[in-house]
Amino acid sequence: MEILIVHHAGQLLTLAGGPQRGQALGDLGLIEQGAVVIQGAQILAVGRSTDLLKAYPQAERFDAHGKIVMPGFVDPHTHLVWAGDRADEFTLRLEGKTYMEILAMGGGILSTVRATRAASIEELVSQTRPRAREAFRHGTTTMEVKTGYGLTLESEIKQLQAILALNREGPMELVPTFLGAHAVPPEYQGRTEAYVDLLCKEMLPGIHDWWYHEVPDQRLPFVDVFCERGAFDLAQSRRILEAAQGLGFPLKIHADEFENLGGAALAAELGAASADHLVKTSPDDIRALASSQTVAVSLPGTPFGLNEAEYTPAQAILQAGGTLALATDINPGTSWCESMQFILALACRKMRLTPAQAIAAATINAAAALQRQDTLGSIEPGKQADLLILDVNHYQHLGYRFGTNLVSHVIKQGRIYPVN
Ligand code: NIG
Ligand code: FE
Repeated sequence: MEILIVHHAGQLLTLAGGPQRGQALGDLGLIEQGAVVIQGAQILAVGRSTDLLKAYPQAERFDAHGKIVMPGFVDPHTHLVWAGDRADEFTLRLEGKTYMEILAMGGGILSTVRATRAASIEELVSQTRPRAREAFRHGTTTMEVKTGYGLTLESEIKQLQAILALNREGPMELVPTFLGAHAVPPEYQGRTEAYVDLLCKEMLPGIHDWWYHEVPDQRLPFVDVFCERGAFDLAQSRRILEAAQGLGFPLKIHADEFENLGGAALAAELGAASADHLVKTSPDDIRALASSQTVAVSLPGTPFGLNEAEYTPAQAILQAGGTLALATDINPGTSWCESMQFILALACRKMRLTPAQAIAAATINAAAALQRQDTLGSIEPGKQADLLILDVNHYQHLGYRFGTNLVSHVIKQGRIYPVN
């Protein structure tokens, strides 16, 4: 198998050593004049350029001369697959309507549900492809993608099919999540309990069977719930997540985006992979989360997109010893942002993360939020060769700069893609 050596990185950020909890966040595992040896889709060796060039004299060479080399971003919370847009709601919000008011009026998520139900798989794929491409150009090598704009078994499966199709196309890798509990569909308005029954008794088993029939060799998708007043309350969220767990699905939750309902503590109790949003999370819930394996995923693009003042209490989460990750939450309502680089810039300003902390939260900890920390999120022998080359001389430019793309090349599973 062909061997490639990426050498003379001014700063090679390995992020070696596993997910970074609490105040340990921000250990970049930095090697000056570093090199990475890649065989096929895997990392073979990591070290100093002088040593590795000597050890692998026949390898094809990529001179990173003074640039930053780091793991690809893992974006662990997105709603990438949708049809249409909601630019009109942006204007409504600027005029004073809130996000949840627009949803209660039948807009918001439900407006995207109408457009997504009406779209064919081909239309969904072709509307989503440019967003996937932008995310990849900005350095996202693996992205979680949720359903949740269908809200019937059939149309949720259509979204899963679009996710699987885009994953097959590559180069960005997609990790699916079933979010049938994203909103109460119009045909169940006022009958949330009946929709929860449908989810537990028909949709979850239906997704499970479909998955095993369609892609038996792939890991089951995550199951996620929007736990919020106006969507699903804590007891309903528990029912859905417990039913999912009973079928073997790994779990996630949207918690405390607008109100503190206790979703984060529920995630910790059930051993969910992550609890996401976490803006209004109480000190007790932060403690519960921090003493569990559940990763706290912060989505600063969302309060920014909604022009709200409050962000995830990241410092409290770190002080409590939690594992903090960052994601875009890209969706047509609250955060149409493909760029993890912009999310890092927001995290540094609004949550006072250092650039080093933000980088770790967007790579190794983000991989942990997808239960893929063994293969993704760091540059270590045996891991998948997903790397970025940034055309800057110091890693602090991530976070410091925003609005332009600092990535010059993406290496995905050992293949080099010039992107800028
Ligand atoms: O994570 N809050 C729920 N879901 C998304 C928004 C989805 C939408 O508005 O279309 C979120 O912010
Ligand atoms: Fe979300």
